[in-house]
Amino acid sequence: MELSLLFLPLRPLTSHLVCLAVSVVLFLIVKLQRRGRWRPRECPVDLNGKTAIVTGANTGIGRYIAQDLAQRNARVILACRSLERGGRAEREIRRRTGNNNVHLRILDTSSMESVRKFVEQIKKEEKRLDILVNNAAGSGLKETITSEGLGLSIATNHLGPFLLTNLLLDLMKCSQSARIVNVSSMNHKKGKIDIRHFKGENLPRFQVAAMYNNTKLMNMLFTRELCNRLHHTGVTVNAVHPGVVMTEILRDYNLLLRIIFNLIGIFFFKSSEEGAVSTIYCAVSKEMEGVSGKYIDSDCSVTLPSPTAQDQALAKKLWDISESLTGLDKRTTGESS
Ligand SMILES: NC(=O)c1ccc[n+]([C@@H]2O[C@H](COP(=O)([O-])OP(=O)(O)OC[C@H]3O[C@@H](n4cnc5c(N)ncnc54)[C@H](OP(=O)(O)O)[C@@H]3O)[C@@H](O)[C@H]2O)c1
Repeated sequence: MELSLLFLPLRPLTSHLVCLAVSVVLFLIVKLQRRGRWRPRECPVDLNGKTAIVTGANTGIGRYIAQDLAQRNARVILACRSLERGGRAEREIRRRTGNNNVHLRILDTSSMESVRKFVEQIKKEEKRLDILVNNAAGSGLKETITSEGLGLSIATNHLGPFLLTNLLLDLMKCSQSARIVNVSSMNHKKGKIDIRHFKGENLPRFQVAAMYNNTKLMNMLFTRELCNRLHHTGVTVNAVHPGVVMTEILRDYNLLLRIIFNLIGIFFFKSSEEGAVSTIYCAVSKEMEGVSGKYIDSDCSVTLPSPTAQDQALAKKLWDISESLTGLDKRTTGESS
């Protein structure tokens, strides 16, 4: 009998082992590549005495950003729209970090009225604001018109954060140096600005992520123009891409898309904790001290945004429209009249 025939039953086993080994190697490569070059745990910055606001802090990336800041002893305001979900995050972050100076305040970024109420409360309670993270956003939202006459995606992802930031600037200028981080996305590269979208007109059909991409471009243009306006104030502003991250971001997409995303995600996407890293880098690291107007990639490196995101005239135009639609040009303070 030929010797090789003796090994025949082993062949399927060998090929399974080879498959397993290749999978493990691939998995390790992906994992190593996801780690990035900056690690929050190796950064000793302590935020004792400082105050931070994180929007959308009850889940996903925002939840881990807030937790990291609390771990560094900051006073952390979780700006969330749900009392129940926000309350759960507040308890969980306090328990995990031992920092009881973590507080939920209600904010719905899609409502300019809610933004104003939130700021009114913050201005009564806080004497300073050192870090503002504009993280809250929705993707694939049903494009309804809000009761204030605004397109839902733009209101939630751009106009709300725009108004919030502007109304909080006075408080931020009280701090010796303060940082604003706008959580954008590499998807801004696919975004377009169409003025009609602001009122929910001429909306793209059958492109489920189109409005999301447009608002992420707005985050970039907002960062650019705000940076110009903040010269010599001690307040910096940067935009980040967190990476492709397994979160609840697709909650408004259809079931099939969610299943596919989650299946691929198990192997290839970042965890929420990993997705929080580039934002934490901008918010606390020594490397980002005094740095403003930059776009930081998911591996914490400064990178160039799309040419449209660098269009200064477009950034100014978007600012003017946003100012007028949010009423910022008429009422400049957070106090209700
Ligand atoms: N995941 C990714 O792959 C990815 C990639 C690039 C950029 N990003 C950006 O990362 C940021 C965080 O997203 P995520 O992936 O962590 O998503 P997520 O898990 O869906 O979390 C989004 C957070 O925003 C809050 N939010 C949504 N609409 C709001 C509103 N109108 N008012 C107040 N809060 C609101 C949500 O609150 P509720 O729980 O109450 O809904 C939730 O806390 C977003 O800016 C997103 O664009 C994510």
